[in-house]
Amino acid sequence: MRLLPAVVAVFLAVGVAYYVYVPMPDGIKEPWKLMLADAGFRTIMQVTSLKNRLGLDYYINPLLPYAEGFVGMVSRLLSSESGGGAVPGVKVSDVTFAGIPVRVYEPPAGGEGHLRRGVMYFHGGGWAFGSAKMGMHDVITRMISDELNAVVVSVDYRLYPEVLFPVPYLECLAAAKHFLTREVLAKYAIDPERVAVSGDSAGGNLAAAVAQEISTDDDASVKFSVQALIYPVLQALDFNTPSYLQNKDVPVLYRPLMVRLWLQYLGIDLSLMPQFLANNHSSLEQSLITPELRSRVDWTSLLPPKHRKNYEPLVVEKGLRGLVKERPGLLDVRAAPLLAGPEVLAKCPRAYVITCEYDVLKDDGLMYTRRLQDAGVAVTNDHYEDGFHGCLGFITWPMDFDVGRRAVRGYLNWLHNNL
Ligand SMILES: *[C@@H]1O[C@H](CO)[C@@H](O)[C@H](O)[C@H]1NC(C)=O
Repeated sequence: MRLLPAVVAVFLAVGVAYYVYVPMPDGIKEPWKLMLADAGFRTIMQVTSLKNRLGLDYYINPLLPYAEGFVGMVSRLLSSESGGGAVPGVKVSDVTFAGIPVRVYEPPAGGEGHLRRGVMYFHGGGWAFGSAKMGMHDVITRMISDELNAVVVSVDYRLYPEVLFPVPYLECLAAAKHFLTREVLAKYAIDPERVAVSGDSAGGNLAAAVAQEISTDDDASVKFSVQALIYPVLQALDFNTPSYLQNKDVPVLYRPLMVRLWLQYLGIDLSLMPQFLANNHSSLEQSLITPELRSRVDWTSLLPPKHRKNYEPLVVEKGLRGLVKERPGLLDVRAAPLLAGPEVLAKCPRAYVITCEYDVLKDDGLMYTRRLQDAGVAVTNDHYEDGFHGCLGFITWPMDFDVGRRAVRGYLNWLHNNL
């Protein structure tokens, strides 16, 4: 019976290949690596959602490391304690700011009276996954601290399903206000004129929202001097922008996944997902969505032709009634910073926005860039033609992508020259 193991092996191999394989656009270089990464993400998400659904923490928590180990290479990125990438000289401590857990990275102290830069960082993960300690975030925050000689504070705001909007936003804001006090800045020898707020994906959403609030808060004596947003999530009214349509099947952030993360964050029933995919939630019947608000997310006027491509806007006459009234988060600038008015944007700090061609969120970032510029804010937009959502998290061997390394370099250079 030597045939049996061989047959089993073939079936297993086919099964794994089937699980891992996803078609990729031609512009994505190193497609196999991205497929592996995607399979890893999907596995972690499935296990996490099973855990959330069944409430079996006790049984499933011990299994998580094995699920993560399923794609060993990805697990290093997703593991809860980063192993590689430790930077000698950067001191790491886990403390709390205004009761919120944060991880602080401190470069070696300079000479007496020498002030450093400060960076507050909010990690990504759809308001539902990740942590400051997770490998892929920890590597970047260490690098910022090391290369910019900056004190970096990475915030562990609570996640879905434990909390929903506005709690993650409020926790980030509380940590930011604490960071920006003269006492705390002095304690860490930070120059109050050189403090950035930054974040990736859902963290970019939180960074943009917190930057708006601090910029318009007359009581805040110290404000952020720059904001650096890495493929941020900025609006939930239009899930049919050109980039949402073009990249609906591109890993790792599939279009239905992004919609689902929004519904979870805003506490909206997941059974309404088809309505959101059809833009029924923002139909013209929704009188709370004024023409003014619509114009703030109108990609037909905010995107250049190069990014509009040949897509047609999807504006629905009649759709879901009353949802916006029931879930005001949809129109709340603290959840959707792209909806802020020009008077708010005008007060925002100088900005850096990274967008990737293969990302459903590309147009969110491009529209925010344009609206900040229209409000008179200096914005640098680095757009990566071969970039995909999450690529800045893929910079350590063997899950390293050339575009990830280039984008991290560009990000650090911008901070170096502007902070
Ligand atoms: C969108 O709304 C219209 C009008 O109410 C309805 O006929 C259609 O089925 C809805 N689409 C989805 C996907 O639910």
